[in-house]
Amino acid sequence: MCQSCLGMHSYAPVEGPGVGGVSLLPVSMAVLGIETSCDETAAAVVCDGAQVLSSVVSSQIDLHSAFGGVVPEIASRAHQRLLPSVVARALREADGAAGATPDAVAATAGPGLTGALVVGVSAGKALSIAWGVPFVAVNHLEAHLYAAFLENSGIPLPQVVLLVSGGHTMLVLMSGHGRYKLLGQTLDDAAGEAFDKVARLLGLGYPGGPAIDRLAAEGDPDAIAFPRPMLADGLNFSFSGLKTAVAVYLRRNPEAPAADVAASFQRAVTDTLEAKALRALRRCGTRNLTLAGGVAANSELRRRFKALDARTFLPSRAMCTDNAAMVAAAGWWQLQREGPSSLGVGPDPSWGMPGA
Ligand code: KG4
Ligand code: ZN
Repeated sequence: MCQSCLGMHSYAPVEGPGVGGVSLLPVSMAVLGIETSCDETAAAVVCDGAQVLSSVVSSQIDLHSAFGGVVPEIASRAHQRLLPSVVARALREADGAAGATPDAVAATAGPGLTGALVVGVSAGKALSIAWGVPFVAVNHLEAHLYAAFLENSGIPLPQVVLLVSGGHTMLVLMSGHGRYKLLGQTLDDAAGEAFDKVARLLGLGYPGGPAIDRLAAEGDPDAIAFPRPMLADGLNFSFSGLKTAVAVYLRRNPEAPAADVAASFQRAVTDTLEAKALRALRRCGTRNLTLAGGVAANSELRRRFKALDARTFLPSRAMCTDNAAMVAAAGWWQLQREGPSSLGVGPDPSWGMPGA
């Protein structure tokens, strides 16, 4: 696909436990990534897990915003309608008119919405059969971890990853590629979910994270002392009490400036995330910290984490929220380790972090 890949692959033995110890993979490899787990229809071509040749994201926000959240049935239908043109564009932008095919196809197989996942997994398998290339079923959470590797393939390990998205909030120790230990996670709402729910309380629409981020810039983060849930101990999180505290405050103070509420809420979330991430670094005896997931696009969180006494890695904002480049990258690394997935594999809507 790219100059180094195009039409001239040399094949080299690669250690791979899933394929009898050795597999034959192109030395330089372009992977088509497909992401349809929620409300973004995305495709990307990434060379060797790091060089992004194209990344196309078609957001369905307009289709869902009237409902205040993602409607699964609408999401699957939209993926089905949009995916062919999104894939075609990703291939075109990666390769101009050369018409070369990728060396592998990676699709998100879970966690996510069942019907939405079916569309991406089926398309990925069909393309891999048509092109005669390997198919890789990728875990969406692991893909978020690999977003940072797109911009720095040499991130030192072990590292702690703080994954904060719309569906998940977790701290993970990554001791090697494919080797994860879950350190802590939310006991109720995810951080992104809290942003979305508070945005709805403030009448800011969906998705709420970016709207709160913008509004908070005009507010006073110390105006309201919202709770910092479970701050004092452990590595688990809880955000539903914070959301309730905002709802109660707004009921009692209907005239409160929305910007102050947004800024104070955002400060409470970032204080909590920062304290837990630092605790995880101390416990694991490492200074390497990566942020991942949609909430990692948040301005205050990024500013705070850049200022930490740690070696912090932040993917660009576009790579924090759902995209297919991270899926292609995770797929490439998985192919090196384990070889292709079986074509019999189906979507797994509740797939957790592999091995964690
Ligand atoms: O990773 P992601 O795109 O999808 C999931 O896998 O869930 O994360 C989406 C979440 C949403 O809850 C959205 O409100 C939040 O990320 N988000 C943000 C920002 N941009 C997206 N939250 C806070 N500040 C932002 N700038
Ligand atoms: Zn995601």
